[in-house]
Amino acid sequence: MQIIAPEIERYLASLDRSTPLLETVAAEGEALGLPNIDSTVGSFLHAMVVASGAKSVLEIGTANGYSTLWMARALSASGRLISIEMDADRAILARGHLAAAGLANQVSVMVGDAARLVHKIAGPFDLIFNDGDKLQYEPLHDRLVELLRPGGLLITDNVLWEGEVVPGLVSAPQRDPAETAAIAAFNTRLAGDSRLATSFLPVRDGVAIAIRRPVEAG
Ligand SMILES: C[S@@+](CC[C@H](N)C(=O)[O-])C[C@H]1O[C@@H](n2cnc3c(N)ncnc32)[C@H](O)[C@@H]1O
Repeated sequence: MQIIAPEIERYLASLDRSTPLLETVAAEGEALGLPNIDSTVGSFLHAMVVASGAKSVLEIGTANGYSTLWMARALSASGRLISIEMDADRAILARGHLAAAGLANQVSVMVGDAARLVHKIAGPFDLIFNDGDKLQYEPLHDRLVELLRPGGLLITDNVLWEGEVVPGLVSAPQRDPAETAAIAAFNTRLAGDSRLATSFLPVRDGVAIAIRRPVEAG
């Protein structure tokens, strides 16, 4: 189920400030069947990197680097981004695109399981974008909050899962029920996490933005 009317998605896309490289990477993702974000979410991520003045960004789920490029383009010269991807071939594609954008020195793509790698990297991060394995959203949650600086942003994609997280809404669900249940459980956890100020946005497939409170509520 498409949450936003296609005409509105097309209109929003027409307003986005994409680039020929981003369009090439999006087309590559489509040809390979990769579940990339779209330019509307890309613009949103870009704006959040700028708004937060992020100098250190962590991404989980690089694929071929489309979302990575949207965020990395917003970094200042001293900004750094680490992106984690399990699939080595996708990581190679992403590195190539980042090099083409002149961003290779600012971005490292780590290959491996995020569940392991998030314990090998040191924070704090100003912004974390989680678009990896949906079954890992909840298990990784505490570690990602720990890696976030106070005031930092945790942005999570696919929180509406084509409407399937809403019980009974979709008559013929297409998604893996285990992933749907995992996202629904994560959403409940995120909404109830007093360390964070969270907002769920019905953009594309649903994006949650959570700000780590500077002073943690008791
Ligand atoms: C939704 S795609 C990411 C799309 C990308 N953020 C974009 O919009 O351009 C999710 C990616 O996470 C990767 N992935 C899945 N499980 C993972 C894991 N346990 N650790 C690291 N990456 C994983 C997949 O290989 C896939 O490329």
